[in-house]
This record gives sequence, C-alpha cells and structure tokens, in this order.
Amino acid sequence: MTTSEPSRSPRPTRMHEVSAETTDLVDLVLDYSRRRLLADDTPLDRPISEFELDRRAGRSIDEHGIGAEQALSRFEHVLAPACITTDHAQYLSFIPTAPTKAAIAFDLVVSASALYGGSWLEGAGAVYAENEVLAWLAREFGLPATAGGVFVQGGTLGNLSALVAAREHARLAMTLAGAPMPDRWRVVCSGEAHSSIASAARVMDVEVVPVAPGDDGMLRGDAVRAALDEHGASVFAVVATAGSTNFGIVDDLASIAALKDEYDFWLHVDGAYGLAAMLSPLARDRFTGVERADSVIVDPHKWLFAPFDACALIYRDPEAGRRAHTQHAEYLDTLTETSEWSPSDYAAHLTRRARGLPLWFSLATHGAAAYRDAITASIRLAHEIAAEIDRRGGFRLVRDPQLSVVVFEREGWTKADYDAWSARLLEAQHAFVTPSSHAGRPNTRFAIVNPLTTFEQLAAILDTMR
Ligand SMILES: Cc1ncc(COP(=O)(O)O)c(C=O)c1O
Repeated sequence: MTTSEPSRSPRPTRMHEVSAETTDLVDLVLDYSRRRLLADDTPLDRPISEFELDRRAGRSIDEHGIGAEQALSRFEHVLAPACITTDHAQYLSFIPTAPTKAAIAFDLVVSASALYGGSWLEGAGAVYAENEVLAWLAREFGLPATAGGVFVQGGTLGNLSALVAAREHARLAMTLAGAPMPDRWRVVCSGEAHSSIASAARVMDVEVVPVAPGDDGMLRGDAVRAALDEHGASVFAVVATAGSTNFGIVDDLASIAALKDEYDFWLHVDGAYGLAAMLSPLARDRFTGVERADSVIVDPHKWLFAPFDACALIYRDPEAGRRAHTQHAEYLDTLTETSEWSPSDYAAHLTRRARGLPLWFSLATHGAAAYRDAITASIRLAHEIAAEIDRRGGFRLVRDPQLSVVVFEREGWTKADYDAWSARLLEAQHAFVTPSSHAGRPNTRFAIVNPLTTFEQLAAILDTMR
C-alpha cells in the first residue's frame, strides 16, 4: 500500500452483495424505469451543447461515488432530457423506433438475469427462444425450415456478416471447382442501397458495383443482369433492398431472384427497415422473391417494435454462416467442437447479449396478429398522409410511398428553409422531422413506424410549413 491510498478498510463485496444499500438502489432504478415506461407525456427533448452539459451535469465520477440517488437524479433531470425521445409518436426522422411495453419491460429482465447469449452451453434457454423468433421470421419470408441465424447488434453488422459469409461461400466454391480466384471481389447493389453496404465493402476490401434503379427507385433484374455480365465470377453477392431507408422502396426482388436460374451468386436481401412490412397483407406481395434469398436481415429495433439494438440475420443455409464466422481458440474448443447451436458462430462477434428476447417475449405475449395490425396501421397512415400532401396546394410528393416513408417537398423551399423549419419544430417540442434531399433537391420525410402516430399530428406538422 502506498502512502497516497485511503486508509479506509476495503469491503470489495459491497457493490455485489444484497444489502440495504443495493436493495434501495435497485428499487430506485426500477421505480424510475416504471415511471418512464408508463408515462404518456414524455417530451421529445433535444440535444444541448457539451458546454451546457458540463455546466449542468459536471463530473459524476470521483473516487468515492456520489450515490445512486444523486446519479439517477442527474440522469433524470439533466442527461435524459438532452436525449431525443426516439419512441415519441412525433419522432418521424431517419428510421424511428417504437418498442412495445412488453419488449421494453422484458429488456430489463434480460439484464437482470445476466444471460449470456453466445453459446448453447451457457444460454440454451435464451438461444432456444431467440431461435423460435428467427424460425418464425424465416417462415414469414418463405425461407426453408432449415434456415437460421442470429440476432446481431444492428443492420450494419448484419449486412457485413452476411456478405462475409457470401464471399467465403464463393471462395469455397471456386476452390472446389479448381477455378482461379478473381483479382478483385465485387458486390452488386442498387445505387440507392444503404450506406452500410459500402461500409461492409470497405471493411472487406471488396468493390461495390452500384447499379442504377428505375425512376421509381426500384432495382430490377435486367439492370442487375448487365452488371453480372460485365463482372462475371468476380461478383460474389447481389444485395437487394427490401425497403430503402430514404423512400421505403422495395427492389423488384422477383426479377433479381430469377437471375439465380442463370447466374451463380449469393442473394442478400437488406430488409433492415422494410422487410417487417411483409407481415402486413397490405404489403406482402411486394416482397415476392425474398424466399429465394441466401441471407436476409431485418431490424426489430426499427419496425418490429423491439428496443435498441437488434438485427435478425437469417441464412438460408446456416452452415455457410458458421463456416465463415466461427472463432477458433483453445479456450473455446468446448463450445466449437460440439454440434450445438451457438449464436456466436453466425456473425462477426463473440460475446453477445440475448438481444432477441425482448421481441420473443412481446411476440409470445401478444401474438403475431397484433404485429400485423400495428404494421398495417403505419402503412395505411403513410398512404393517407401522402394523399393529403398530394391534395394540398404548395406541396409535392417526391414519390408515391410503398411502405411507411413519405417524402415530400414544400414548393419553393431551399435547404435553408427546411433547416430553419426543422429546428423550429424541435425547439417548440412539436415534432422531430429532419431535412433530406433527393437528386440534389431538398425535401423532408415522414418515417412512420409508431402506431401511436396519428393523421391529425402529421397534418398539423404540414400546417407549420408556411
Ligand atoms: C435499409 C437499411 N439497411 C441497413 C441499415 C443499418 O442498420 P443499423 O442502423 O441498425 O446498423 C439501415 C438503417 O437505417 C437501413 O435502413
């Protein structure tokens, strides 16, 4: 012991044992969680500057601790109000989130139970339940009963993991055929594909071949065919988007999938936002062709009403995912030398939270029909507000919505007009609607996934665009 260390007698069990102190702090935190979860008037809130946060929150961490009461109070009164309420009914930017009460509440259980979701050995029960959800999703998408995968952190990691498996699959096929490896691997996708595809390509050091979609935003088989003809066997994957981020447009999956009859490629469907809409009878037909995918992703934290963060990654042949991703190390032999299903083996990760469980609990509680209804409501609302925008003078729909994203322009507005209007909306705590653009023209968009969002709320936002 050095002379500068405090002389108090250490009690290293203090933070872990069940005591009056830990009981009180658990009560405090659960009480806050309960209040937040059941409040129906949580404001939108807004970010504030680091300078202002420094002033209001200051430092929380010192050698002795400030106590749970003060720490929680600082969170409740200073830090939380500096975070936008992403599940607010009038949060309409990017792709919002709208977790069910059941899913959020069960997320607390996942934490409280210290579940490990990486291996069957440690988390069999949790993995079993997650796999039930993945199997249900696979059935909805028309994939075979042998399909399976894993919940990963988000769509970016899901796309990366799927593409890594796709390249590994192509490498193996070429090795077995004695064919020469291409100098450069390529992935074909729409010019409107999500930025995470380019990110995955950078990480993998492969080339993206962007293919122009039609004027309606849909990538079609004939355009993909031209890219396949040009780049031949160097194309290890084609990515089709099932619900683009900006417009919610679903590529023509059927014509892209049909190319599999003539060309040898891995079809990955990025349905991070939109594939959930397949649960609705209003949109199901748009996804014909997804049943031929080699891998798909859909993010429950987007339109399947789960809390952050969760992406369901499903392989048609899970073995292809396992071959690409299983980590080998002496200390892991116990896990990898068995035939048991270990979720860690199916993506670029090892330690993992059983992040599929909140969705499992909510689905088990409410049943799939409740999900169909909630998703259908947002699609219907998107079409109703699109019709209203079309009807009103001074507005222009950029494209007819397919799912639940409505992109529109206020005629004559510059980017600066949208910026100022959007800032005013948030400042007034009215709504969170950010500017966007398409083909160099500024616009804005409503991304609707929350069943609590109403037509009247959206119409009132349009009223502010004077
Ligand atoms: C179509 C699409 N793919 C991928 C992603 C990336 O997902 P995440 O933000 O969960 O990494 C998004 C995010 O909005 C998306 O819309």
